[in-house]
Amino acid sequence: MCGIVGYTGRRQAAPILLDSLSRLEYRGYDSAGLAVRNGTALAEVVKATGKLYHLADKTDQGRALAGCCGIGHTRWATHGDPSVVNAHPHVSGNCSGSGSGAVESDVVGVHNGIIENYTELKDKLLRHGYAFYSDTDTEVAVKLVDYYYKKYKIGPVDAITRTMVRIRGSYALALMFKDYPDEIFAARKDSPMIIGTGEEESFLASDVPAILKYTRQVYYIGNLQVARVSPGKVAFFDLNGDENTIPLTEITWDAAAAEKGGYEHFMLKEIHEQPAAVRDTLNSIVKDGKIDLSGTGLTEETVRSVSKIDIVACGSAWHVGMAAQYVIEDLAGIPVRVELASEYRYRKIPMAEKTLVIVISQSGETADSLAALRVAKERGAETLAIVNVIGSTIAREADHVLYTLAGPEIAVATTKAYSAQLIATDVLAVYLALARGTVAEEEAAALLAELAEIPAKIERILEEKARLQWFSSKIANTHDIFFIGRGLDYAISLEGSLKMKEISYIHSEAYAAGELKHGTISLIENNTLVIGVLTQKELYEKTVSNMMECRSRGGYLMGITTNGNFSVEDSVNFTVYIPKSDEHFMASLAVVPLQLLAYYTSVNRGLDVDKPRNLAKSVTVE
Ligand code: AGP
Repeated sequence: MCGIVGYTGRRQAAPILLDSLSRLEYRGYDSAGLAVRNGTALAEVVKATGKLYHLADKTDQGRALAGCCGIGHTRWATHGDPSVVNAHPHVSGNCSGSGSGAVESDVVGVHNGIIENYTELKDKLLRHGYAFYSDTDTEVAVKLVDYYYKKYKIGPVDAITRTMVRIRGSYALALMFKDYPDEIFAARKDSPMIIGTGEEESFLASDVPAILKYTRQVYYIGNLQVARVSPGKVAFFDLNGDENTIPLTEITWDAAAAEKGGYEHFMLKEIHEQPAAVRDTLNSIVKDGKIDLSGTGLTEETVRSVSKIDIVACGSAWHVGMAAQYVIEDLAGIPVRVELASEYRYRKIPMAEKTLVIVISQSGETADSLAALRVAKERGAETLAIVNVIGSTIAREADHVLYTLAGPEIAVATTKAYSAQLIATDVLAVYLALARGTVAEEEAAALLAELAEIPAKIERILEEKARLQWFSSKIANTHDIFFIGRGLDYAISLEGSLKMKEISYIHSEAYAAGELKHGTISLIENNTLVIGVLTQKELYEKTVSNMMECRSRGGYLMGITTNGNFSVEDSVNFTVYIPKSDEHFMASLAVVPLQLLAYYTSVNRGLDVDKPRNLAKSVTVE
C-alpha cells in the first residue's frame, strides 16, 4: 500500500505535504514525490527514491517548491521497481525521463491501490498516441483521465467518473488539472482516503495521522465517489456526476492512536488487514478465474519438468512452507521438502535434477534465507522467491519472484504477510497441478473459487473476536501451552505456537498430535492448556483422541474446528468455530483465531505487542 496526501489553501503546500507524508511512511517508503502548483499552468514535480528524508533534502524541506496547491506520495511498489521513474506523482504529458521537473501536463496524479486491468488500458492509450515513461499502473490511470478530459471536454469530474467506469481494481486517486490551478480532484474505490477542511484550506490523505495536526474536521469520502477539493471547501459527486453531501466528522483520536488507524496496536490493525492482503495478492495472480503467473517468469514447461521442490525459509515463513508442502504434494503430486534456511545453507543436500527451490520471506532480507537462496543457485537449482517487499535482495537474486501484496507490515509478529504468503502458495499449488495434469480445469476452477471466498471468511472470523479476547483473559497467567494437529493442522499449530510465545512470552510448543505420546505427553499436568486444531476431516478423530489422552492427564482442552462440527464439545472445554472451506485452504482460516488469541493474551499480560523483547522485524544477521 502507499500513502497519498494533498493540500490547497493559504499556506505554502510543500512543507505541509512533507510533514503529512512523514506520518504515512508506515504505508510505504521505497520512494516519494511531490507536485506543487503556484497558481500557474506549470506543476513542479520532484521525486526521490528511498525514505522520505531524501525528498525533503532534495526540496530543502519543501522550501524550494513554491505554491499553495499540491499533492504528494510515499510508495510501496506494486508495479515497477522502486525508482525515480516509477515514483509518484505521475503526469499525463508524453514527457521524457522521469516525469519530473516543471511540467505543463494537463493532469498530474498520485495513487494508492492496484489497477488490475492496466495493461489493456495501456494498450488502448498507446493506440491513441500516448507514450509511457514508467512501468506503473498509476501512470496509465493518470493518462486515462487525461484521455477522457480531452475527448469529452466536460471537465475533471466527468473525466474521472468515465475513468472509474473503465478501470478495475482499487484506488485512492488525487489529481491536479492544469486548468484548475488551486484545486485537487480525488476519487476512491476500496483504498482509504479522508479529506479535511480548515480555515480557507483543505487537506487530503490516505489516513488520519497525516492531517490530524492541521484539522480534526474530516470527510470520509465514500466508495466510488469523486471530490472537488478547493481551499476550505469540498464538493462530492457520484459516478453519474450528481452532487452528493457527506457529513463532516470530528476526529477525537490522539495522534499516536491515529497512526494505527484507531487500533490499539499495529498487530491488531494488520490482523484486520488480512482480508485485503489476501484479496490483493489473489487478484494479482488470478484474473477472471485464470491463474496468471507471467509476472514471475515461471512457465508451464518449467514446472512440468520439476522433479522435486525444496521450500526454504525461517520462522512464520517456514510455517507457510510446512502448510504448502501438504497442499502441493496433494494437488500436484510433487515431493516437497521444507527446510529451515539456517540448516539448509550448511547441509550437503544432493541436489536432484530439476529441483525448484522456493524461498519464502516477508522482508526479502533475512540473512539465513538469502544465504540458502545463494547456496541453491550455486547447486544449480531453479529458484522462486515469494516476497512481500518489492526490490528486496532475495527478490532481486532469485530467478523468479512472486510478490505478495500485503503492504508494509510494522508489527514484528507477522500476520497479514503470513496469510498473503499462504494464499500465494495455494495458487502456486493449483498452477503446478494444472500444468502437470493432476487436476482438471473444472477442479482447478472450483479450488480458485474457494480461494476467492477466503477474504470474506476471514472477515467473519474477525467479527467473532470477542470470544477469543475473553478466553485470553483466562489463560493470561498460564505457563505452558501445547498446540497440536495432524497434517495441515500441524502446520497451523506451528504458527499458532510461535505467535503465542513470540508476543506473550508464554512457553509453548507445537506438536504433531500423533507424536505427543513419544515423550512430550510427560509434560501434561493439571490444567496444562492443549489447543487442538481440527480442520482435516479424515484426521479429526485421531487428533481428538490425542487431546483426550491429554485431558485424562489433567489437560485443559481448546479446539478449533469448522462450523457445525458440534460433537467436538463432548471432548473439549472451549471451542472456536470457523467457516468451512476446501480442506487444502483451512490454514488461512484456522490461523486467525490463533493470531487473535496470542494478541489478546499479550495485551492481557501488559506486554509490548508490536515490539516484543529480543526480536526484530527482519533478522538480517546470521
Ligand atoms: C514471525 O512472526 C517472526 N517475525 C519471524 O519468525 C519471521 O517470520 C522470520 O524472521 C522470517 O522473516 P521473513 O519472512 O522476513 O524472512
